[in-house]
Amino acid sequence: MYRKTGRVVTRRSFLTRVGQSGVVVGLGHLGYPGHLGHLFPSSVVTAFAQTPSSIRGKERLIVRSRRPEDLETPVELLDSFITPNDLFYVRHHDYAPRAEAGPWTLQIDGEVSRPLTITLDELKRMQRTTVTVTLECAGNGRAFFDPPVAGIQWEKGAVGTARFTGARLGDVLKRAGVKSTGTYVALDGADRAIGKMPEFIRNVPIEKAMHPDTLLAFDMNGAPIPPLHGFPLRAVVPGWEGAYSVKWLQHIQVLDHEHDGFFVKTAYRYPTKRVPPGATVDPKDMAPLTGLVVKSIITSPAERASIKAGPVRITGFAWAGENDIAKVDVSNDNGATWFPADLGPDRARYTWRKFTYEFKITAPGSYRLMSRATDDKGNTQPIEAQWNPSGYLWNVIDRVRVNVEAS
Ligand code: MTE
Repeated sequence: MYRKTGRVVTRRSFLTRVGQSGVVVGLGHLGYPGHLGHLFPSSVVTAFAQTPSSIRGKERLIVRSRRPEDLETPVELLDSFITPNDLFYVRHHDYAPRAEAGPWTLQIDGEVSRPLTITLDELKRMQRTTVTVTLECAGNGRAFFDPPVAGIQWEKGAVGTARFTGARLGDVLKRAGVKSTGTYVALDGADRAIGKMPEFIRNVPIEKAMHPDTLLAFDMNGAPIPPLHGFPLRAVVPGWEGAYSVKWLQHIQVLDHEHDGFFVKTAYRYPTKRVPPGATVDPKDMAPLTGLVVKSIITSPAERASIKAGPVRITGFAWAGENDIAKVDVSNDNGATWFPADLGPDRARYTWRKFTYEFKITAPGSYRLMSRATDDKGNTQPIEAQWNPSGYLWNVIDRVRVNVEAS
């Protein structure tokens, strides 16, 4: 029996409900021939684990899968604009490769006139750019979908913000001379697929690849990128869901078509029209995910916290991928009344904003605190999730329940 916040799910009932929902298991419903056991060797078994991590350097994170390491940040630890490296969530499909900076090379080929092999030192000698990015896994919040969806059961903390420094992907592509036929840039890391799983290869449309903020990063928050985050080199595709930011990057191939691997053609796709919860969606009605959507999370007070009556401070973060946060509203009366929160001064083109508000709660009792972000394009967090077969882009109005005691 596995417990997670708010509900108890047995492994059998979980898998049965998932089966009934039309989602065979994991990504299998999308055509991958593997069974859950191949695709998610340990994720389902540890899906609802809430134990602190014993993984070196990540001791304070929640283990969602031990191997490969999928580690979630407890949201109450997300209190600074920049997420320290030891608190940054980790997501990978395969085992992290052992990488050494010395002999590391990056190969660039495909639809280019000058195929290249570049060393890390050469990349470091190119013009450097630093971009501050809020990175979020597309599956963050998957645990809250109903009916449930198989895969890592992320709650709220598969998100963080870091300063990445590196060379521009566009500069490297210009050196290689992209031919007019080049429309997609496939990114492949040094991690190798586990068992019968497909290789993790992603692709970025050429316009986004050439954007001056898209990086080949070797530093994260002023230090060499840690091994679990892609040492010595990763792509950073700002504002887009985290899977584009391929770690341990070794091979870039410019293509004249969309890459036809599983992690482009099948995974990380979203229905192009609204579907009922639990629906099976025809692959022709799915399109690749790109930008992150408007979202906020309350990081304090914690769920089920007991607080003294009087001033009650609510804080959290809001982000919207390539869009800016325009406002965050908060409520302490089940969403009947909303108040505009203060937005913190730290901001950058692709990052979250901290929000704060101080309620005056004088009557003891049980309260629901909520946050609702709106971006500069007018998109607002919904009341209800748009269900989708892989449980991507959960961005429902956030909420925590607190108990206010007499002071
Ligand atoms: N890169 C490689 N090579 N292999 C992976 O499995 N996972 C992706 C992406 N890059 C992945 C990868 C996913 S799904 C996410 S959300 C981000 O890395 C997570 O980055 P982080 O672990 O540095 O937080």
